[in-house]
Amino acid sequence: MSEDRLIEGKTISRRRFFLYAWAVSVVAVMGEAVGMLFKFIQPRVQEGAFGGKITAGKMEEFPLGSVTSIKEGRFFISHLEGGFLALYSKCPHLGCLAPWIEGEGQFNCPCHGALFNEKGELLSGPSPRPLDLFPLEIVEGEIVVDTSTPILRKQFEESQLVS
Ligand code: FES
Repeated sequence: MSEDRLIEGKTISRRRFFLYAWAVSVVAVMGEAVGMLFKFIQPRVQEGAFGGKITAGKMEEFPLGSVTSIKEGRFFISHLEGGFLALYSKCPHLGCLAPWIEGEGQFNCPCHGALFNEKGELLSGPSPRPLDLFPLEIVEGEIVVDTSTPILRKQFEESQLVS
């Protein structure tokens, strides 16, 4: 009798009891693993955060000739004759963030001195290409930038402008 356990009025052997306990443990561990797998495959990018689509603001908030930092998106909106560009602030050389220096009218990478103009074109320094772009669209008068995939380019072209 000491070898048996009483469950719902029935006695079961110690061996069977441990078998049930082991089976419950396996199911619990598998459930945890499946939960973690679902969490892993869920997209981690939230709407409005870097890596997703970000609304920069209304078109009129970006006057012609302005270069405006959108910090949460790590990009700048540059309003040029002919349209807008969303310039990724990450320097294509080694990845430092290149701020826009308003007084100089250029992006100045603090790491190795690469300089870029308002179109993102390389003026001087070690960068292998211009600043990368993010896809930009105008939705009901607002500028929406998709920060999921930067566009690498060899040079500025008018066709990159969005109006
Ligand atoms: S990281 Fe910008 S110039 Fe090197």
